Amino acid sequence: AAKNGGPQSTTGPLLQRVGGSDVVKHVVELFYKHLYADPSLIKFLHDQEMTHLRAKQSAFISWLFGPPGVPYTGKSVRIAHLRIIKQRGFSPEDFDLGMKYFADAMRELQAPEILISEVMRRITPYKDAIFTPSAGDIAEEA
Ligand code: HEM
Repeated sequence: AAKNGGPQSTTGPLLQRVGGSDVVKHVVELFYKHLYADPSLIKFLHDQEMTHLRAKQSAFISWLFGPPGVPYTGKSVRIAHLRIIKQRGFSPEDFDLGMKYFADAMRELQAPEILISEVMRRITPYKDAIFTPSAGDIAEEA
């Protein structure tokens, strides 16, 4: 049995356990395909190029599938979404839908459910971070 890499493994970097960087790339591609295909999300995305958004999220994706116990040090997710929250009403329900598409993308690529739950557990706290007003909002709006 794989010690630190096989899909049955419960420890080690997620990147290895999902099957490596090609699988992650494929998951991310499918995720964006779903996001951009949803008529209820297009009002937030119509002026964003898919490849541009994907590039912006790459630090987060690397962190997401990276080793456990490492904090995400990328740009504030609150700030990244503030404009669509304030100007277009981006809501927690919209974000839930986005998370569902991420899980769907992993499922379509036959990721084991246990890995999907682990990834979703890592993403979920960002929902609060995105929708909780913070002192930094003021500076960003100015
Ligand atoms: C960036 C929209 C879901 C994490 C962005 C930006 C937009 C956006 C418009 C770019 C802002 C800019 O140009 O600077 C959306 C929409 C979603 C969604 C419409 C639909 C549900 C998610 C999810 C996550 C996420 C599920 C996972 C936590 C991020 C990150 C960035 C970002 C990490 C980039 C931050 C940076 O600039 O480093 N999103 N997002 N988003 N989003 Fe989302």
